[in-house]
Amino acid sequence: MSIIRSVVAGCGSYLPARIVTNQEMTTIVDTTDDWIVERTGIHERRIAAEGEFTSHLALNAAKAAIADAGIDAQEIDTIILATTTPDQTFPATAVTVQMGLGIHHGAAFDVQAVCSGFIYALTIADTFIRCGQAKTVLVIGAETFTRLLDWTDRTTCVLFGDGAGAVVLTAGEGEGTTADRGILTAHLHSDGRLKEKLYVDGGPSTTQTTGHVRMEGREVFRHAVVNIADTINEALAATGLTAADIDWFVPHQANKRILDGTAKRIGLPPEKVVITVGQHGNTSAASVPLALDTAIKDGRIKRGDLVLLEAMGGGFTWGSVLLRW
Ligand code: ACO
Repeated sequence: MSIIRSVVAGCGSYLPARIVTNQEMTTIVDTTDDWIVERTGIHERRIAAEGEFTSHLALNAAKAAIADAGIDAQEIDTIILATTTPDQTFPATAVTVQMGLGIHHGAAFDVQAVCSGFIYALTIADTFIRCGQAKTVLVIGAETFTRLLDWTDRTTCVLFGDGAGAVVLTAGEGEGTTADRGILTAHLHSDGRLKEKLYVDGGPSTTQTTGHVRMEGREVFRHAVVNIADTINEALAATGLTAADIDWFVPHQANKRILDGTAKRIGLPPEKVVITVGQHGNTSAASVPLALDTAIKDGRIKRGDLVLLEAMGGGFTWGSVLLRW
């Protein structure tokens, strides 16, 4: 049986130039390189320059993904941008990116699911493609997340960084089996009962300010390992595949201990886990495509590999996408 599959045609990413090491963080808050590395695995993060916005990072990542896909930007009919840090409350940052690419047709919109944003955006893109709403979708995760940080709060400000990653998804044909290239299954979840565990204490409708990130780290950690393992098992059950079939696990990069804990829980060997949190920190919606692009460009992920993506973030929101590269 011939079916439509959403196939990744290209991938790209962009990081701001400025590297901020843990050593530099010790000059800002009462912390140490040892504490940060031991608790999180983070060594350094990137911070966007003054005047460098989420749309700038997104546009650079988008151009790289379009070049990698070898298509003309005009072929793109939909742009979905996942971000928690839009340039403005409105319009959507996706529209600024659309304009930057010289595209004046189709639709462009933002998705807000914090760190799970890219998984949400990919799932929406896949649904659009499979139901014939779109043929070529640019999916971006981009953040200037450090602009939401309280730089006097050592429990949060050492964890995050800025960056962007993007993929081009195109409609392809499959046989309806797990041997097909493209997205094989996608699963999304949220539970607002836990929204106070990780949130921003401001917003246009409440304080008319942007606010700062507040987090109960231990609680987030506890729920993350359980929720992530559940949604991975869901993806495997939906496809009849097992953890042994996965070639590469590309998780949201929040904390190396969460990644190690999750891999262990689902029985994945550490060498199959793509870990970039050490160099990027937690870049929220940008973290999965940044990690994906790293593993493609360094040759780990190859055509035909089975790749598992997942994320968990504020809300809580969480989800997984299983695809064949
Ligand atoms: N430097 C030094 N000491 C610190 C720092 C720091 N940067 N931050 C906290 N501490 C101290 C605390 O004050 C505490 O001291 P005390 O024992 O004297 O009170 C001690 O270290 C332990 O603090 P905990 O918060 O219990 O440390 P924990 O081992 O839980 O690690 C961490 C904290 C790294 C935040 C961890 O809980 C974590 O990673 N949680 C998950 C975060 C996450 O995954 N977020 C993802 C979602 S983000 C999104 O969706 C936007």
